[in-house]
Amino acid sequence: MLSSTFRRSRREASDDVNASGSAKNHVFVARVLPDVAMRELDALDAAVHVHRAHHPPSRQELLSRAAGASALITLLSEQVDDELLGVAGPELRVVANCAVGYDNIDLAAAERRGVVVTNTPGVLDDATADLTLALMLAASRRVVEADRFVRAGNAWTWDPEMFVGLDISAGATLGIVGVGRIGIAVGRRARAFGLRLLGTRISQRVREEANELGVEEVELATLLADSDVVTLHCPLSSSTRHLIGAPELHVMPSHALLVNTSRGAVIDERALVTALEEGTIGGAALDVFEHEPDVDPRLLELDNVITLPHIGSAGRATRDAMALLAVRNVSAVLSGQAPLTAVRAP
Ligand code: GLV
Repeated sequence: MLSSTFRRSRREASDDVNASGSAKNHVFVARVLPDVAMRELDALDAAVHVHRAHHPPSRQELLSRAAGASALITLLSEQVDDELLGVAGPELRVVANCAVGYDNIDLAAAERRGVVVTNTPGVLDDATADLTLALMLAASRRVVEADRFVRAGNAWTWDPEMFVGLDISAGATLGIVGVGRIGIAVGRRARAFGLRLLGTRISQRVREEANELGVEEVELATLLADSDVVTLHCPLSSSTRHLIGAPELHVMPSHALLVNTSRGAVIDERALVTALEEGTIGGAALDVFEHEPDVDPRLLELDNVITLPHIGSAGRATRDAMALLAVRNVSAVLSGQAPLTAVRAP
């Protein structure tokens, strides 16, 4: 069930203006942020305009709010492209994305225009890793399917063959595609379950920890062929779009599960639907979708698929920390200091 705040704000669908502070700087915030961050926004020496709804501003609203803004706080649903940056004009100094991913931002265009881009790395690693483990366990032990079965009022009694799933414990292999901060946090948790760890696309930053954890570095094809569960943690870029398509899915064993808490388009969703329908793989647990928030209706028909509405980082403390970091990045740049967590074009 949706929260009452969400339902109320969709009804209002308004774009309230919350102007405060001096008019020297104008900040546009694309969504209501957690209270702690809203309080820090109030304390900024700036006129702050908040899109007071729990759904994204329309493109038109975004363009008109960006015009003349010194800072934008965006979410992954806002496309920050050259058009938007151009409309914003020379006053724009920082785009603070309230997310660790920044595939919604044209970094090259921002760099050309001298606009700093920031994201929220680090603060959401544990929450995202926790959800990944939750999905892995739920998919392997068919938790969601079994819950639906009970809720539907089906008659049941303990049965040796009822809802038998995949054992996730010593002996099973987890393949981590994209071993960075979040991939490592997943690996640490999986180690506690006694899983063997395979990894590909291991970031230099965590290589030492990956070695200590015993992550075996292999090519993607080997990882896919040898893993019981594959989990994706790479950022979305031109080199990872559709990294997992039909050929990759066909390499996976027919019992294997695919977990995605990164970005939907890392998987070719059409190919995934076919693979699931044809039993090429055993199941999928998806927190993200290729055309979010749209979900391919065929996925919803399949018992061996879990679908979540992109809630990887949705822990209270985590969401507070993400929003605070976004506001503090804005505050730093507007007061002439270095941003706390800048993203640089590769
Ligand atoms: C969420 O998906 C994020 O990138 O923070």
